[in-house]
Amino acid sequence: MKIKVQTKGGSYDFDCGPEESLLYAGLRNGLSLPYECATGTCGTCRARVVEGKTHLEWADAPGMSYVKQEKKEILMCQTRARGDCTLRVPGKMTGEIKRDRWPSYFVGQVNNYRLVTHDVSLFDVKLDKPTSFDAGQFVLLESDEVVGTRAYSMVNYDRETNKLVFVIKRKHDGKFSDWIFDNNVEGKSIKIFGPLGCATFHPKENKNILCIAGGSGIAGMMAIVSHGCQSSYFKTHNGFIFFGVRSKKDIFFLEELSNYVMKYPENLEVTIALSEETNATGLQECYQNLRFATGFVHAVVSEHMTDKYLDMLAYVAGPPPMVDSALRMLVLEAKFPGTDIRYDKFT
Ligand SMILES: Cc1cc2nc3c(=O)[nH]c(=O)nc-3n(C[C@H](O)[C@H](O)[C@H](O)COP(=O)(O)OP(=O)(O)OC[C@H]3O[C@@H](n4cnc5c(N)ncnc54)[C@H](O)[C@@H]3O)c2cc1C
Ligand code: FES
Repeated sequence: MKIKVQTKGGSYDFDCGPEESLLYAGLRNGLSLPYECATGTCGTCRARVVEGKTHLEWADAPGMSYVKQEKKEILMCQTRARGDCTLRVPGKMTGEIKRDRWPSYFVGQVNNYRLVTHDVSLFDVKLDKPTSFDAGQFVLLESDEVVGTRAYSMVNYDRETNKLVFVIKRKHDGKFSDWIFDNNVEGKSIKIFGPLGCATFHPKENKNILCIAGGSGIAGMMAIVSHGCQSSYFKTHNGFIFFGVRSKKDIFFLEELSNYVMKYPENLEVTIALSEETNATGLQECYQNLRFATGFVHAVVSEHMTDKYLDMLAYVAGPPPMVDSALRMLVLEAKFPGTDIRYDKFT
């Protein structure tokens, strides 16, 4: 099917298959259509159908509250074409997607599945063909046994790789995370679409970095730190990583973070913020090159970072309330310009 997209900057055409969403078809054709979650919650991919028939896949998507259905508005990530269509997109096109980062479809197999806390699992997905992605990007995972796609950030950073690594936190009554935790998923087949997302790290930007993560939000930050270490970035730039969890039993990746700090003890600093624990006895002795603090992660950042925000990019990821608090602190208190903040809300 032929899709025409009208934007303020001009018109674009692309082909769309019958089984894919309009957003994914546009992105895999290299068009930088507006989106954030790519999974029906944020409303960023809003468009108006000017001509043609479409079908909404998930009628109850939370993002539909941003859409005026009486004006034929749709969420491109949740809508399929039923024939040739013309769409008008009000959102901003986000610039060119580099040719080697155009997202595409993959088939993968779950490997090395293991629990890292009582409610967080870590596993690899072995892909049917290699891919490259930027540190901080995510992909969509889909199982035949669960309706809809879910977004997950890559923990690893590699080029031309067949392996993606993920951490998934169990959500109460969450369909995909229940599927991951309650079934023996080792060896199971999974569909993937990506890479996606703009909360990415690029050494050529030449700035100090601040990463603020809540819970599984540490996933993309691990990729950023990994890329920073692989490219010797922390020889010449400061990296401040803040990882917020509730209590000791929710912490993971301490060994990995400690190893990264060991490589660049002068410039790389990692702080674990425990919101429901008043002392970190035991942990501090075991991990002497990490810092432990008490409080919500945005408050711990605020307290520790005063006067250190020089020439800095900030990355934020995790549950929406935690991300909102961190963004408010960065904008109102630390006076970050919006262009120097990149974030993913794990909706
Ligand atoms: C950019 C981004 C990166 C993320 N990275 C991570 C990560 O690294 N680790 C992590 O643990 N979590 C991550 N998340 C959150 C993750 O995508 C899931 O929301 C979370 O795992 C809960 O999924 P669930 O199926 O268990 O819960 P559910 O409540 O069942 O579903 C949660 C989400 O799945 C989608 N969904 C639900 N039902 C349908 C349906 N019928 N049709 C279509 N879509 C549906 C919606 O987006 C919904 O908000 C990320 C989210 C985003 C947006
Ligand atoms: S990108 Fe479609 S609702 Fe978020």
